[in-house]
Amino acid sequence: MQTKRQYEQPGNGTWLLSPDGAMRVARVETLQAVQRALLGWYRAHRRALPWRNSKSPYRIFLSEMMLQQTQVERVIPKYHAFLAEYPTIRRLAAAPLADVIRLWAGLGYNRRAVHLHRAAQAVVREHGGTFPLHLQELLRLPGIGAYTARALLSFVNNAPVAVVDTNVRRVLGRVFRDELQALFAEKGPTERQVQALADGLVPDGRSARWNQALMDLGSTVCTARQPDCPRCPLFTWCQARRAEQVTDLPALRPKGQGKFSGSRRYYRGRIIAALRDSPQSGALSFEALVSYVETQADGDVPVAWLWELVQDLERDGLVVSAGDGNSRSGATVRLPS
Ligand code: ADE
Repeated sequence: MQTKRQYEQPGNGTWLLSPDGAMRVARVETLQAVQRALLGWYRAHRRALPWRNSKSPYRIFLSEMMLQQTQVERVIPKYHAFLAEYPTIRRLAAAPLADVIRLWAGLGYNRRAVHLHRAAQAVVREHGGTFPLHLQELLRLPGIGAYTARALLSFVNNAPVAVVDTNVRRVLGRVFRDELQALFAEKGPTERQVQALADGLVPDGRSARWNQALMDLGSTVCTARQPDCPRCPLFTWCQARRAEQVTDLPALRPKGQGKFSGSRRYYRGRIIAALRDSPQSGALSFEALVSYVETQADGDVPVAWLWELVQDLERDGLVVSAGDGNSRSGATVRLPS
C-alpha cells in the first residue's frame, strides 16, 4: 500500500500525486467530490447481492472466485449451491476435487475451481481454516491472486486497498482520463501502476463501499459500449464525458491483453464437460474423448492438438491421464479424485 503523496500548487489547489511523485493524478477537492457522489449513489442504487450481507471471509472468497470472469446473474445460483454443498471452508477443502469441478459447471474457466479448492485446502492446512487477512500471506496461498487477496482485505476488513477489475478500471479510466492519459501517454500503465493509482483514490475508512460502488457503477451505468452518462452520479467530473470520448479506449487498459484464443479455451471446456458427463466420472479413453469433442465441433479437430490440451489441463491440475508415458495412444483421461 502506498502512502498518499500530495502537493499544493499555488493558485490551483492541492493535488494527489502519482506513487513516484512525478505526476498529478487528481485534484484532491475533485476526488473528494467524486467520492461523495459515488458513495451517495451507492447508498440509493446498490445491488442487493447475497454475498454483500456477509463479512465471512469464506463467503466473500467463494463469491469473488466465481465473479472473476462470470456475470453476477450466473453466479448467484451457483453461490447458493456451493454454500449448500460446502457450508464451511473445511467442507470444501475435504471434498474431492472432481465434485468441486462438477458443481462448478456453468461458470466456465474451470481452472478457477481448482484454484478455489487448492486455496481452501491451504487455508485449512496452514492456517487452521481461518484466512490470514494480510496481503503478503494471502498472496502466498495457491489460487489467490492480487485481485482476490485485495477483495478479501477490503470487503472483510475495509482495508485501504482498491479492488481492480475491468469495471473499476474502466470507470476510473474515464473519470480521471486526462491525467491518466498524460501519465501513461505512450505505453499504457503496468498492472502495478494501475493498482497503486487506484489505491490512492480509495476514501479513508470506506474501501468496501467504494470498491463495490465502482463495480456497480461499471456494470450498470458506466458500461463498456453503452454508458448511460445522463444517469451517472459522476457526470459532472467525468473527463472522458467532457471530452466526448467516453467510448474511446479507456486510459487504464492494461498493456498486452490481446483477444483470448477462443478455440483453445472452448476445447478445454469441452474436454472437461466430456469427463464430467461420463458415467460416474470414470476414465475415458483418449479416443473416446476425441469422438465426444468432435461431435461438438464443426469439423475435424486435430488430434495432436487435443492431446496437447489434455496435457495442459493435467499441468493445471484439472485432469489426470494414465497410459504409456506421454503417448496418447491407449491413454485414459479422468477428472482428478
Ligand atoms: N464483480 C466482482 N466482484 C463483485 C462484487 N463483489 N459485487 C458485484 N460484482 C462483482
